[in-house]
Amino acid sequence: MYKILTLPGDGIGPEVVQVAAQVLKHVAKTFHLVFETEEALIGGASIDQYGKPLVDEVIQKAKQADAVLLGAVGGPKWENLSHHLKPEAGLLGIREALGLYANLRPAMVYDSLVDASSLKKEIVSGTNILVVRELTGGIYFGKPKGIQKNEDGTERGFNTEVYSTPEIERIAQKAFQLARKRKRQVCSVDKSNVLESSVLWRQVVTQVAKRFPDVQLSHMYVDNCAMQLIRQPKQFDVIVTSNLFGDILSDEAAMLTGSIGMLPSASMGERLALYEPVHGSAPDIAGQDKANPLATILSCAMMLKYSFDLLDVSISVENAVKKVLEDGFRTQDLSHDGSCQMVGCREMGRLVCERIN
Ligand code: IPM
Ligand code: MG
Repeated sequence: MYKILTLPGDGIGPEVVQVAAQVLKHVAKTFHLVFETEEALIGGASIDQYGKPLVDEVIQKAKQADAVLLGAVGGPKWENLSHHLKPEAGLLGIREALGLYANLRPAMVYDSLVDASSLKKEIVSGTNILVVRELTGGIYFGKPKGIQKNEDGTERGFNTEVYSTPEIERIAQKAFQLARKRKRQVCSVDKSNVLESSVLWRQVVTQVAKRFPDVQLSHMYVDNCAMQLIRQPKQFDVIVTSNLFGDILSDEAAMLTGSIGMLPSASMGERLALYEPVHGSAPDIAGQDKANPLATILSCAMMLKYSFDLLDVSISVENAVKKVLEDGFRTQDLSHDGSCQMVGCREMGRLVCERIN
């Protein structure tokens, strides 16, 4: 039996999590598994109920679960709250509280979606990248930070990009381990021509690489990487990078696949893990059954693989997603031609279930 805490959050979060939970139910029935799910609040939904985006009780529940499934946080309703009370602070808070330092964001281009990308089909076809983003350090959490008054009445806003040796070591090690199950290539992305924290990053990653002689390591500056991702994405296997660079590059990588609505993620610590789609809360389409649930369903597939060690079951979910796309079903975020059939969020979930066996 596996205990799953669901945190639907805001915007389209509740819709995609509900559909993914439906898929998990179907998986349980098909493969004779038991998933016990419990739901709790995070982000704006938690602000409305408790006045803050993440309460301790939810952190405790997450710690007791075998895995956490999150939808999305944020929306215009909470945009003007002060920084530490915004929905996003709930997401950052749970990442920190659970020690989820490694964020895995696979960007894989499905054959049936090669035309969905804004890039040429020859460029994106066959792309299969895993972005390994450091998630609990860097400029997101570094101190000092704040907004202060200057003597002349102007203000200064500041954050700190900081990484320690152990922080770099553990994320690098994770990237190398994951590369061993793929094409054994790691590209470490930094800005070591300018930033001291990147100089250390590069040194430590190079050290860790010595323990993985079977994995090929390369280094790239982040500006070049941003360019190479759209110039020749197939050159990448695993990209390992800092929190901020990973945030930006993973959105860019998402667009290779045709839609950010396709990208799943896993945020992992030593023991705990949280799974969430890379897309946000998309308030403009919330509550209209238009959202693409595939990123969340694929996040569940990652949960089955990484948290429950159910590799075959995970693959069957991934295959069902592949099949549904091959069969021509598309949500509105995916480009489509006359041969495709547009479906809503719930229907997409049902079609995936139909293909799980
Ligand atoms: C992401 C998001 C978050 C981040 C926001 C919502 C805090 O953009 O998961 O990529 O910046 O990490
Ligand atoms: Mg982001």
